[in-house]
Amino acid sequence: MDFKSKIRVVEDFPKAGISFKDITTLLADGQAYAQAIDACIKMLEGVEYDVIVGPEARGFLLGAPMSVLTKKGFVPIRKPGKLPYETIKHQYELEYGVDTLEVHKDAIKAGDRVLIVDDLLATGGTAKAACELIEKLGGEVVGLAFLMELEFLNGREKLEGYEVFSVIPFES
Ligand code: PRP
Ligand code: MG
Repeated sequence: MDFKSKIRVVEDFPKAGISFKDITTLLADGQAYAQAIDACIKMLEGVEYDVIVGPEARGFLLGAPMSVLTKKGFVPIRKPGKLPYETIKHQYELEYGVDTLEVHKDAIKAGDRVLIVDDLLATGGTAKAACELIEKLGGEVVGLAFLMELEFLNGREKLEGYEVFSVIPFES
């Protein structure tokens, strides 16, 4: 399937000069959504993982269905103040300011092989923060899988040393 034709590109959102890759059009097409999930699972053949971790919110849209199909557990990484039990936090730099992500501290056990899943690899800041959280809990990040990758933002450089997979590359 030509996944790119299912993704709507919205110019100048959320601010001037940004060409936003909108997956809501792909998600609304049941065939395309199912095939995108299958493509994500297929590209990971040979990677052995015990659990899938997805960052709120769009990471849930990819990670949760992959979890159901592969019968691996799903662990949410959330924005601050949403998780009810004890958490660990990781603060990371944005272009302007800082952001924080949280995970339940018992969600990953030492030695767990973790696959991180998100819709998009852009600068890699979110994915790197997710790696830090997993590793603080003793998990091993065995791979990071994205539906889309904005290659021109060089997110892979920030994730050097990790196995990075993506289905749909964007050059602009
Ligand atoms: C978007 C996207 C990725 C992240 C990629 O999430 O879903 O998680 O940005 O960017 P990065 O590689 O530069 O970190 P966003 O924080 O906009 O929130 P959402 O998933 O809740 O929509
Ligand atoms: Mg996100």
